[in-house]
Amino acid sequence: MAVQDNADLIAGPVQLRQAVTGDVNAIARIETACFGDPWSVQGIEDALTYSYSTMLTAVLGGDIVGFACLYQMVDEGEIVQVAVTPKFQGQGIGRQLLGGLIRHGIEHGVTRFILDVRVSNDRAVKLYEKAGFKKLALQKNFYSQPTEDGWLMEMLPQAPAL
Ligand SMILES: CC(C)(COP(=O)(O)OP(=O)(O)OC[C@H]1O[C@@H](n2cnc3c(N)ncnc32)[C@H](O)[C@@H]1OP(=O)(O)O)[C@@H](O)C(=O)NCCC(=O)NCCS
Repeated sequence: MAVQDNADLIAGPVQLRQAVTGDVNAIARIETACFGDPWSVQGIEDALTYSYSTMLTAVLGGDIVGFACLYQMVDEGEIVQVAVTPKFQGQGIGRQLLGGLIRHGIEHGVTRFILDVRVSNDRAVKLYEKAGFKKLALQKNFYSQPTEDGWLMEMLPQAPAL
């Protein structure tokens, strides 16, 4: 394998930490790289200031390579975004971010997690299903740019087995 093929493989531990105002531009770059309808810089700044919002970043070698955001309303937590820089996708960073947000939510009283995901986003759906999310409802034309249906998914971390 050529050296170049290995250049983007992660070579050290990824640290999770809460996002701060100075992270906004790096987060916006990830948004633009990942989504056709990215959050604006203003939208990211707003999400950082909401009292009910928790934004985690994944930091590798000092650079932000992913982020994820949870909105908590009493005991319900909505995962509103998870994104990893394209060249670092598929290396476990999304799983770490989602796990970090779920642990944070549970520690702060969340008993039900929900999220929306495009039906075509197999990678994200698999990530969420591995975390215990189940498809709850199909939402017709939920997304724009491009228009697409979305799955509403739910996870009950404390659900009794019987
Ligand atoms: C979806 C996303 C956040 C996942 O993060 P990631 O770091 O790439 O994923 P991970 O490496 O942590 O993999 C977690 C799981 O996702 C699934 N997955 C990852 N890469 C995959 C691929 N190429 N094909 C199918 N499933 C894949 C697997 O189930 C994987 O678990 P496994 O490694 O135990 O098999 C990331 O790919 C991303 O940013 N995509 C663009 C933005 C986006 O769609 N965000 C979600 C919006 S709802």
